[in-house]
Amino acid sequence: MSNSVCLILLSFFMLISIAAGTQFKVGGSNGWSVPDTNAMSYSQWAEKNRFKIGDSLLFAYLPDEDSVLLVNADAYNSCNTSSFVDFFNDGNTVFTFTRSGHFYFISGKKDNCEKNEKLVVVVMADRSNSSSLAPAPLPASASPPPPYGWVVEEPTAQPPPPNGASSRVVGMVSTIGAVLGALSYAF
Ligand SMILES: *[C@@H]1O[C@H](CO)[C@@H](O)[C@H](O)[C@H]1NC(C)=O
Ligand SMILES: *[C@@H]1O[C@H](CO)[C@@H](O)[C@H](O)[C@H]1NC(C)=O
Repeated sequence: MSNSVCLILLSFFMLISIAAGTQFKVGGSNGWSVPDTNAMSYSQWAEKNRFKIGDSLLFAYLPDEDSVLLVNADAYNSCNTSSFVDFFNDGNTVFTFTRSGHFYFISGKKDNCEKNEKLVVVVMADRSNSSSLAPAPLPASASPPPPYGWVVEEPTAQPPPPNGASSRVVGMVSTIGAVLGALSYAF
């Protein structure tokens, strides 16, 4: 396989892994439910994880017993279930983060929300400033060396042989010629 094909495949899979993101199951095996009094809160759990754009949350619950509301900070703090940005009650809600910032989720049951079935997630912005750590760009006049380990292939003026068979024949003929030449020189 040529280097360029490898590079294209590598970029392709990197793109897929970025696009797919990571899915976090809220509440683990218990799913989206009122947490045990001794268990860590959803928001403590969220603080232990790093969420980025493209990641998603999976809320699993019984659809006739619970639901998920996406709310603002005020509704989150007061467990106001009558004021929400979005509402899900399918029992298997996947919420994908398409922007950075704060996301507030509460149970659609006010009673459950007040028992701490609520979650704040902070989604990180792109680490676009990490480029400031990269070395300064080379002056435009100097042509940069190829990246280590990669050979830059220049297109050749000569067209490739029409098929492999003829080039093998040419190779064989020239090998025979060289052997004959060497023999005639030796004797
Ligand atoms: C819930 O929010 C709505 C809209 O902001 C508001 O009208 C209502 O009074 C709030 N209810 C409570 C109990 O705070
Ligand atoms: C990233 O850089 C821009 C300007 O270059 C700046 O305004 C912004 O605050 C920086 N963000 C972080 C997270 O450092």
